[in-house]
Amino acid sequence: MTTTERRARIAERSRVAGDPIALFPVARVAAMVHGFYAKVREDAVLGPVFDRRVDDWPVHLERMVLFWRTVLRCEPAFKPALRGAPPQLHQQIAELRRDHFERWLALFAETVEATFDAEPARYVLECAERIGASLSRHLDPVPTGPDGSASPSARGPVTTDAVRP
Ligand code: HEM
Repeated sequence: MTTTERRARIAERSRVAGDPIALFPVARVAAMVHGFYAKVREDAVLGPVFDRRVDDWPVHLERMVLFWRTVLRCEPAFKPALRGAPPQLHQQIAELRRDHFERWLALFAETVEATFDAEPARYVLECAERIGASLSRHLDPVPTGPDGSASPSARGPVTTDAVRP
């Protein structure tokens, strides 16, 4: 399955039955974020990457709670940072690799499944996969032309659309 097909399949399935405000209470969203980043900071692979970039953890956690409130509860809570929107911020992390995203999603799944019932948890993870696919898009291998040269438009423009709920 191509990345485009995978994204289309995720988008098609990404529905949640019920009222998101009731399914994703703010306190539970905050617990998810704090629990997840506590694991990230302890993680041998992800921890050092974050430590090199995040100098104010309380601010990062507060912003990530706002981000997930926007994604899950459709609140206009999260505003991109002055230094860049999420796609730009991740592109600036030169050491970022595809396997970082796999590890991130595996740790996130553990936290989400311990925080929410099965159906809301499925939805949260689909959102994370969809956003992760967008944020890691620049890490995809660049398709090459018949002469072996990289196609100039292969990577496409970077937009913030895909990380908007
Ligand atoms: C589905 C996967 C991911 C999601 C949904 C996600 C989401 C976000 C968001 C929304 C921000 C912006 C926070 C802000 O504006 O203040 C952010 C920042 C950041 N993310 Fe991710 N992220 C993901 C994967 C990763 C991975 C795999 C890494 C590294 C291993 C990573 C490292 C970082 C770092 C270091 C920052 C802070 C950047 C800075 O403030 O300069 N993220 N992430």
